[in-house]
Amino acid sequence: MGFVSMPAISASAPGKVILFGEHAVVYGQPAIAVPVTEVAAKAIITPDPTATGGSIHITAPQINLDANFANLPSEDPIAASIRATLDALKLSQPPAFKLRVTSTIPVAGGLGSGAAVSVAIIRAVSAFLGHPLPDDQVSALAFEVEKLHHGTPSGIDNTVITYNKAVYYIKGKSIETIRIATPFSLVIADTGISAPTKETVADVRRVWESDPEPYNEIFESIGKLAVAARAAVEQGNNEALGPLMNENHELLQNLDVSSPELDKLVLAAREAGALGAKLSGGGRGGNIIALAPEGRAAEIKTAVEGAGAKSAFFTTVK
Ligand code: MEV
Repeated sequence: MGFVSMPAISASAPGKVILFGEHAVVYGQPAIAVPVTEVAAKAIITPDPTATGGSIHITAPQINLDANFANLPSEDPIAASIRATLDALKLSQPPAFKLRVTSTIPVAGGLGSGAAVSVAIIRAVSAFLGHPLPDDQVSALAFEVEKLHHGTPSGIDNTVITYNKAVYYIKGKSIETIRIATPFSLVIADTGISAPTKETVADVRRVWESDPEPYNEIFESIGKLAVAARAAVEQGNNEALGPLMNENHELLQNLDVSSPELDKLVLAAREAGALGAKLSGGGRGGNIIALAPEGRAAEIKTAVEGAGAKSAFFTTVK
């Protein structure tokens, strides 16, 4: 491969929330996720002509990373994202470059920070090397990286983040995007507690393995909520989503992935007028989402902040 020009290049990827179906999606049930463009991960690459070929210097201020690619362990998610891209391009000795990774997506908060960082890096590195990869390949490579720090991911995070569209996702099936008939507002509020998805996914797997039947029933009930929710959003019947979210939260409580802090924010949002609220993502910590009636998002945001949210913002799902 010849490299004629190598300008600085950047790529970014949004965060995401799971509207319905987290955890159950790992066991083959459908789930719905939407991108959240108010937060994003960004990868910026500049050529490093003074360094020897193959040298890659990485900085990621949010996680205090300042290191050479060659010195990072292979399971490091940033190194793994670079490695996956180089392997896909069949390149072991790329021209030297510097990679800077920044993100406004809270880490371990259920908003897809890991997948967004991977997608941004895969896009930036492949574009820098003159071979921007198509979405299906970006998503597949990000999925490989997700497996390293997630254990047994369903693939929903890398999918919704790569395609940047609302998706109805079933593990192993081709992606289906959803048409949101009428946009709606969500308040997203952070407990401030970081809870790696890998741990909650592993905990659910442990209890499921010890006694599969009751857990299979919970997963199926969650899957039914995702089916009903898809019909509701496609028909513009957004109000129907509220009770479905509340039911989904209760089923997640039964999976033991909620926490007192999450429950407190969910209740505060409902008391402030949310049509429904639930934890979103792996749970135990991280974020809740609340469906706001028209014009009420600010009020709900204030209420969850008063109930201890470390931060809160709203997004329009469209
Ligand atoms: C994480 O955003 C969603 C989980 O269902 C894990 C996964 O699907 O890989 C908890």
